[in-house]
Order: sequence, then structure tokens, then C-alpha cells
Amino acid sequence: MENPVIKNLKERRSIYSIGKDVSHSQDELTALIQDAIKYSPSSFNSQSSRALILFGENHHKLWDTVKAELSKIVSAEAMEATTAKIDNCFRSGFGTVLFFEDSDVVTKLEKEFPLYADNFRIWSEQSGGMAQLSVWTALATEKVGATLQHYNPVIDEAVASEWNIPASWILRAQMPFGSIEQEAQEKAFMDDSQRFIVCK
Ligand SMILES: Cc1cc2nc3c(=O)[nH]c(=O)nc-3n(C[C@H](O)[C@H](O)[C@H](O)COP(=O)(O)O)c2cc1C
Repeated sequence: MENPVIKNLKERRSIYSIGKDVSHSQDELTALIQDAIKYSPSSFNSQSSRALILFGENHHKLWDTVKAELSKIVSAEAMEATTAKIDNCFRSGFGTVLFFEDSDVVTKLEKEFPLYADNFRIWSEQSGGMAQLSVWTALATEKVGATLQHYNPVIDEAVASEWNIPASWILRAQMPFGSIEQEAQEKAFMDDSQRFIVCK
């Protein structure tokens, strides 16, 4: 059975070699990213996921900030390889999506529905993961490569200050994207029998 969703999921890979040779406009990619997040599910339809979408000099500033913040805590020796990775795999791209979860939404739900209070933080993280997969897959179907990075919490304060991010937005992931300069290597999969139990 050919299924378009499975086809799109297979197309999504971690693409580390990204460039700026993207045929879409910034506005088109912004709409794509926003729709991908908007139409992703969230617990109680709480819509707790937030995003900062950076292009051009803002995108460059982000990755320069990552390097600056890391250099405060990483040895000069280790920074050499890290700098090369950031420049060649992330800064080299066309833009970056920063994913946040809004803690105010979670706090409100905890108060409103005390019976589920223990779950709302977990569900918020899960909703964020769904939004990230949606964006990653949507970009892939447009032949735009991306990876999922986690320089939070090291960069949290600098990002919040530079882009005026509300205090309740908690940074969870960064997704640099761009033209696919090198395809991902083939991926190994564990045996289905170790992952799935099917009862007929
Ligand atoms: C929750 C989560 C966290 C991840 N964190 C990182 C990360 O910090 N850096 C990174 O390069 N890749 C990260 N990845 C990407 C995985 O390493 C990658 O998806 C996996 O190896 C499978 O490869 P594929 O994306 O090409 O299918 C993350 C993926 C997930 C789902």
C-alpha cells in the first residue's frame, strides 16, 4: 500500500550539509512552518507550542550567539571542532526555527484541571515534539533539509534578550534548515519484531 504520509515521513532525514540555495521565499517558508505548527495536535487543544523563525542576518546572529555562549563554557581546543560544525551545518543554512513551549499555558491548565495537573508539563513537551516533526517533515517534502539541535539552556538568556521573547516561553529546540547539499546516509532500523506487538 502506497501512503503519502509514510512517503513524506521517509523523506524526512537529518540533513547536516545545508546551504542557502533554496527556491522558496522567506514568506513561503514562514507560512509552511506556521501551518505545520498550527495544524499539529496539542493536549486539550492548548496550542502551547511557540516558534521564533529567523532568516538572513537574524539567522546568522543566532549561530554566532551559540558560538559565543559555548565559548564561555567549552575549552578553546574543543571550540575549534564545534565552531566548524556550527558554521558548516547550521549557520550555512537559509534559516532556523526555534521551538518553545509556553509555560503560562501549562500553569493555567494545571489550575483549571487539577485532576490532570501532573500531566500537563509532559503533554506540553509531547505537543512540542509533534510540532517539531510536522515542521521537519513539511520542510522535507519541499526538498528543504533540516536537523534538530539542542543548544538550550546555554543560549536561553541571550536568545530571549536579543529577540524579545516572553518570559513564559521555554526554549526547547533549534531547527536550522536550508538547501540539501548532501543527502543523509542510509539509516539502519531495528527488527520490527522487537518494537511491535500485534494481536489479531
Ligand atoms: C527528541 C530528539 C532529539 C534530537 N536531538 C538531536 C540533537 O541535539 N542533535 C542532532 O544532531 N540530532 C538530534 N536528533 C536527531 C536524531 O539523531 C536523528 O533523528 C536520528 O539519528 C535518526 O536520523 P534521521 O533524522 O536522519 O532519520 C534528535 C532527534 C530527536 C527525535
